[in-house]
Amino acid sequence: MLFCRTFAIISHPDAGKTTLTEKLLLYGGAVQEAGAVKAKGERRRATSDWMKIEQERGISISSTALQFEYKGMQMNLLDTPGHEDFSEDTYRTIAAADNAVMLLDGAKGLEAQTLKLFDVVKLRKLPLFTFINKMDRPSLEPLELLDTIEKTLGVVPCPMTWPIGSGDRFQGVYDRQKKKIYLFERVSGGGKKASEVQIDDLNDPKLSGLIPEELLDNLREELEILDEIAEPLDINKVLDQKQSPVWFGSGYNNFGIQNFLESFMELSQGPRGRASTDGVIPPDSSEFSGFVFKLQANMDPKHRDRIAFVRVCSGKFEKDMQVLHTRTGKTVRLSAPSKLFAQRRETIESAYAGDIIGFVNPGAFAIGDTITTGKKIQYEGIPSFSPEFFNWIRNPNPSKQKNFKKGIDQLREEGAVQVLYSLSDFEIDPVLAAVGQLQFEVVESRMLTEYGVETRYEPLPFQVARWVKGGWPVADKLKGVLFNAQIFKDAQERPVILFKNQWAVDNFQEKFADVELLNVAPL
Ligand code: G4P
Repeated sequence: MLFCRTFAIISHPDAGKTTLTEKLLLYGGAVQEAGAVKAKGERRRATSDWMKIEQERGISISSTALQFEYKGMQMNLLDTPGHEDFSEDTYRTIAAADNAVMLLDGAKGLEAQTLKLFDVVKLRKLPLFTFINKMDRPSLEPLELLDTIEKTLGVVPCPMTWPIGSGDRFQGVYDRQKKKIYLFERVSGGGKKASEVQIDDLNDPKLSGLIPEELLDNLREELEILDEIAEPLDINKVLDQKQSPVWFGSGYNNFGIQNFLESFMELSQGPRGRASTDGVIPPDSSEFSGFVFKLQANMDPKHRDRIAFVRVCSGKFEKDMQVLHTRTGKTVRLSAPSKLFAQRRETIESAYAGDIIGFVNPGAFAIGDTITTGKKIQYEGIPSFSPEFFNWIRNPNPSKQKNFKKGIDQLREEGAVQVLYSLSDFEIDPVLAAVGQLQFEVVESRMLTEYGVETRYEPLPFQVARWVKGGWPVADKLKGVLFNAQIFKDAQERPVILFKNQWAVDNFQEKFADVELLNVAPL
C-alpha cells in the first residue's frame, strides 16, 4: 500500500501545532469533533503534544505516529515534541518522515526552534510545505514573510493561497490555483468545520459587498506583484526542496486547512527508496525492511516496557515475522507490534512502506538499527545532532561504578543522550550532552530506577558543540590554542569542540578560517 503520506510538522512552541493536529484529525474523521484547545495553564505536563490532546479529550492518541485517512489516502503524521519535551527524538522523527510541514505563526515568522528543525529537513532533503497560521491575528506583511523564508532557508516560497487582510480585518484567502476566494468566518470556540463560501472571480461584483474595497484593491495589487515575482509552482522543484508551497490560514478557526490538505496530498511524496549499504532499496521491494528511529521507555509506568519505533522502508510487515537484526546478526521474532491509530493503540497484522510500527523492545534494539527479511543491509545512520546543554554526570557512590558505567553506555547506545569524554587523564567522568533539558531528567531517573545508581549533574559552561571536519589530524593542531572552547571526544572517538557561546564559535572561525566545523556529526 503505497498510497500514504508520512510527514512531520516542524514549528516553534505556540505556533499552533497541537491545534492544527487536532483539526487534521477532524478532517480525517479520526475524531468526531475537535474542541477548542484548552488554556496552557490547564494542561498537565505531558510527554507529547498529543498526550495533551489525549488528556483534554479523553481519547488515547499518545503516540509517535498518528494515522488517519483522507480521501482514500493514508496519512501518517509523526509527532515532533516541542516545548520542554524537545529532545533528539524530535530530530530523529524527522529522519523517519518523507515530507515536512512547516507551521509558522504569522505574527512571528521563522523562529528559533523551527530553524533548528529545518536543519534536519534540509539534511534529509524532505519536501517542505509551509502553513502560515494565526492570520486572524495581526500578522507580519505576507510578502515580507515570504522574503524571509527565501533568504533564511534558501527555499523559494510559492504561495498557493494569499491572505486578504489579517487580524480583525482578516477576510479570507485567495486560492491562486483555483482562482477562488474562501471567505473567513470566525468559528466561535474553534469547534466545527468552518463553511467556506466560494466566489469564482476576483472581479465578481458580489465581492464588493463582502470584502471592504480597500482590502480588495490591496489584494489585486499583491496578486499582480506575485504574478510578476513569484516562481510558478513546479512539483519537481517542490520534491527537490527548491520550492515550498505556502498556505495561509487559522488553525484555531479551522480555516485554510482544507486548501492545504488537498494540495498537500497531491504535491507531497509517498515512500521513496532509501539509501542502504546495498544501494537504494525501493519501497515495493519484496523483502520487508525498516529501521529503528526512536526508543521510548516507560510508556506504561506499570509495565516499564520499552517501545522501539520502526519506520517500514520496504515490503510488507506481518505479525510474528522473523527478521534479521543486521547489527548483531541475530534473528528476532517481531511479536506484539502496534500501530497507533487516533483513538487507540492497536495490535496490527501487517504494515507497509511509510508506516510506523512499535515493538516492545526486549533491549535488542538501538537507534538506527536495521531489520529485514532480506539480506544483510544497513540503512544510512541517523546522525547525532548538535547538543546545546552539557553536564558532567557524577557517581557519588564508588561501589556502584560498574552499574554507573553500564547505565551510561546503554542509555547512550539507546540514543537517550549523547556522551562526550574529556581528553584529560584527570577527568574520568563523562559529559552528557543533549538538545533538550528533558533528556537529563530522563537519564537521571532511569539511572536510578533501572541501574540503581544515584547521579549528580554539574553543568559545563558551554552552549555550542561542533564536530571538526577532517577529524584528529585537524583537531590536534587546535589543542592548547582555543579560547572559550575545549576539545572533547564523542563515543565514536571523533573530536568535538564545545564553545562557550555562538560568539566564541564566530571568533574561532575568524581565527581558523580553514577549519570546517560541523553541527551534525559526520556519519
Ligand atoms: P503548539 O502546540 O504549537 O505549542 O500550539 P497550540 O496548538 O497549543 O497553540 C498555542 C496557542 O495558540 C493556543 O492558545 C491556541 O489556541 C492558539 N492558536 C492556535 N491556532 C491559532 C489560530 O489560528 N489563531 C489564533 N488566534 N490562535 C491560535 P492558548 O492561549 O495557549 O490556548 P487557548 O486559551 O486558546 O485554548
